[in-house]
Amino acid sequence: MGKVMVGLAMSLDGFIAGPNDGPENPLGDGGEHLFKWYSSGDVDFTWPSGTMMSKVSAESAALLREMVPTIGSLVTGRRTFDIARAWGGRHPLDVPVVVLTHTIPQEWAGKESVFTFVSDGIESAVARAKTIAGHKNVAVSAASIVQQCLRAGLLDEIHINLVPVLLGRGVRLFDHLGIEPIELERTRVIEAPGVTHLTFRVVK
Ligand SMILES: NC(=O)c1ccc[n+]([C@@H]2O[C@H](COP(=O)([O-])OP(=O)(O)OC[C@H]3O[C@@H](n4cnc5c(N)ncnc54)[C@H](OP(=O)(O)O)[C@@H]3O)[C@@H](O)[C@H]2O)c1
Repeated sequence: MGKVMVGLAMSLDGFIAGPNDGPENPLGDGGEHLFKWYSSGDVDFTWPSGTMMSKVSAESAALLREMVPTIGSLVTGRRTFDIARAWGGRHPLDVPVVVLTHTIPQEWAGKESVFTFVSDGIESAVARAKTIAGHKNVAVSAASIVQQCLRAGLLDEIHINLVPVLLGRGVRLFDHLGIEPIELERTRVIEAPGVTHLTFRVVK
């Protein structure tokens, strides 16, 4: 069975998007700083869907080439799904996507869709994603989803792409946790231009 993991770009003050995010401004005001490292290197990284290419440093490319093929499904929230305009129907990771939402968008709920909409809680969403992923890992994305996974004890690994910027406002990743301390074991640090890739194991 694979792991449940999160991999997100985060500012030093803990934001994964700036304020005023939306389909026209996906990472919010100032949020473009979080993704600069995806386009400022000299090594091509083609995402599995083939619809998107990044230009990253050699260090970041090596990490992406190692991690991306291990992902078998993705769990995200309805805001991210809407802001990304459903990635045009195919996520760059080219894996099935489980979307937590209270309202199922009928236009995407068809039999041929790679999207599964789940309304009965985070445990159910992660269980569906695990079944889809098989022996591969489940990636969870978006702040509210990561927070629910942490509260429910579902997360095994945290990958933070730490960007040297202070956004000051926006969508904070580790907000609304209301938990007892969760111990983490730092398992890897990769210094790359414009980003530090940090990996933590959630101690259970
Ligand atoms: N920096 C990065 O690497 C990165 C990566 C991904 C996303 N992001 C950013 O993260 C932001 C979105 O994160 P977010 O935390 O604000 O929103 P989100 O998790 O994408 O979506 C939250 C919404 O999902 C639905 N939802 C969540 N949990 C649910 C549950 N248990 N049951 C039913 N529905 C549930 C609800 O929508 P409804 O009630 O409307 O159905 C809720 O309002 C965006 O700005 C996006 O660009 C950043």
